[in-house]
Amino acid sequence: MSEATEKTIPAEKLVRVTFLPEGRTVEFEFGTMPYEHHGRPMSFLDVAENFGVFLDHACGGVCACTTCHLWIKDQQGISPAEDDELDRMDMAADQQLNSRLGCQAIITGPGNYVVEIPKWNRNYVSEGKPLALAENK
Ligand code: FES
Repeated sequence: MSEATEKTIPAEKLVRVTFLPEGRTVEFEFGTMPYEHHGRPMSFLDVAENFGVFLDHACGGVCACTTCHLWIKDQQGISPAEDDELDRMDMAADQQLNSRLGCQAIITGPGNYVVEIPKWNRNYVSEGKPLALAENK
């Protein structure tokens, strides 16, 4: 499923982000997205907040939890992880080579980006929020 863009975005400025497993794709013109005050500007959390895609962010996007953990399919065009993020990622469940924090990984230019939100998240359970997986134990 893809959201129709209301105006034509020049191809050289098009940012397309697909959130898995939901498969929702959003598009916008690079440099025009307003900042939603969650995570770093142009982070995946910022994009998610702009388009109403649910991406948990228990700490508000300040690199103090791991609830915004994402797997990014292709790291090209993404800002490198800084020390704070790397330290925090050590606490994340299901860490993979392409793991990033959605509030810290920034889209640096136009292009296609695909991210997957893990179904299981250690902080999510430990913070006592309702979660089907926790209830099934
Ligand atoms: S929202 Fe807490 S680290 Fe990203």
